[in-house]
Amino acid sequence: MKISVIGAGYVGLTTAACLAEIGHQVFCADSDEQKLAKLRKAEVPFYEPGLSPMLQKSCAAGRLEFGTTEEAIDRSECIFICVGTPPLENGEADLSAIEAVARMIAKRASDYRLVIEKSTVPVQTGSQVRRILMLHSTNSLDYDVASNPEFLREGTAVNDFFHPDRIVVGVESTRAADLLREIYKPVLDKTFTCPVHPNCTKNTDVRFLVTDTNSAELIKHASNSFLAMKISYINMVANLCEVVGADISKVSEGMGLDPRIGRAFLNPGIGFGGFCFPKDLQAFVRMAEKSGCDFSLLREVEKINKLRIERFIEKVRKELWVIRGKRIGVWGLAFKPNTDDVRFAPSLVLLQALLQEGAIISAYDPEATEKAQAVMPNIKYCADAYEAVKGADALLIVTEWEQFRQMDWNKVSSLMESPLIVDGRNMFDPQEIGAKGFRYISVGRESVAPPPSAANAAASSSPSMRHEKQPQDSTV
Ligand SMILES: NC(=O)c1ccc[n+]([C@@H]2O[C@H](COP(=O)([O-])OP(=O)(O)OC[C@H]3O[C@@H](n4cnc5c(N)ncnc54)[C@H](O)[C@@H]3O)[C@@H](O)[C@H]2O)c1
Repeated sequence: MKISVIGAGYVGLTTAACLAEIGHQVFCADSDEQKLAKLRKAEVPFYEPGLSPMLQKSCAAGRLEFGTTEEAIDRSECIFICVGTPPLENGEADLSAIEAVARMIAKRASDYRLVIEKSTVPVQTGSQVRRILMLHSTNSLDYDVASNPEFLREGTAVNDFFHPDRIVVGVESTRAADLLREIYKPVLDKTFTCPVHPNCTKNTDVRFLVTDTNSAELIKHASNSFLAMKISYINMVANLCEVVGADISKVSEGMGLDPRIGRAFLNPGIGFGGFCFPKDLQAFVRMAEKSGCDFSLLREVEKINKLRIERFIEKVRKELWVIRGKRIGVWGLAFKPNTDDVRFAPSLVLLQALLQEGAIISAYDPEATEKAQAVMPNIKYCADAYEAVKGADALLIVTEWEQFRQMDWNKVSSLMESPLIVDGRNMFDPQEIGAKGFRYISVGRESVAPPPSAANAAASSSPSMRHEKQPQDSTV
């Protein structure tokens, strides 16, 4: 099928490349000329594992092309809208890019178009898009508007496209439902060659859920808000653990064994970030309030999340006493591992606050340095994790990148002024890392001081600090 995708960001570009991979002829557009210039050379303008080789393959095969929105409208009957929907000052979603694209489709298209919202939008946006198409159509455009919310997670976006938990489509006509089923047929029937897993046996039964447009839009906002609520809930339980001397990792484990609760998203930390949870939560609350529903439950979720940073800084203050003039090493800037995305990342708020208190910060992230530098130029960015801890009075772990589990702890300890780790992601077993000579402060667990012998001898040489690994809540 011929398909157009408008908006070549984390969602749009992944969608375009994956649709091309399963055999469609895809045209992808973006209004950002610099981005387009890269894409036309088959270069991916951000970090997403597995995306680049797939994109290059489809470009070379002529199945994936890039250009302007006008061309995208002309090329295909089915048009995915994947533009950004950032938050306005008041928390509502800014839908101006959606409106601009809808207007352009109305003015330009002369025969049938299926306009598919993939951007995350508040409920009833589909009705507004329909109104715009009707209002601005110069050629009595025949159209359908559908909602196809995206559930991919940055860092595993390619895998998520090929192995979705569910595909939700909100439609108002059989024609739209049939076209969407046709688009996803290779995924539903598993007739594609999986580019993620050799000899892949996944995707036995992907649910294709057809609803009305309003319900599909609501499914996305309600799902993200629910997951955010789970994170804030476990963060509150972690606070309690710190006061009463319980261990949050055990509490999460015990709770998660109940299938009605599930283990996912029960990892405490410095709070959720990224381009989905914070803004979707805000937009959902605003939409509910505008509709006359008091959703103060979710306001509380937001409030708890904001307080995570202050609570984390309080732990740093407690350890360092005076922050002014202290050297602080930071591992991780991206809002979660395996992405370079720092939008609404907890790191930004945390580091700005520490800077204001006079800390001297050296940070390292395997992928997000460039993006962080663009919005936060006033800290030192390091080439590797060791450089970030040179002379440090404390090491703060902000993003749980896998490589931080594989460090030479002897070296880390010897580089630091004082072997103190404040871990916002509970990456390590407190006893194990204490035995390596570190004072270790984490979330919802007892603080650990090194045994006297370990403190003197610094860390033992084993680089394996790994304890039972849990999926982290920032992987959304
Ligand atoms: N990032 C995620 O993990 C994720 C997951 C699910 C859903 N979403 C939703 O998908 C949407 C896109 O998110 P993203 O992370 O891909 O954002 P993004 O900022 O990475 O990409 C948006 C792209 O749209 C382009 N754009 C903006 N206005 C345009 C216009 N008028 N015409 C053409 N192009 C235009 C921008 O230049 C940008 O490249 C948002 O609504 C987001 O909430 C994101």
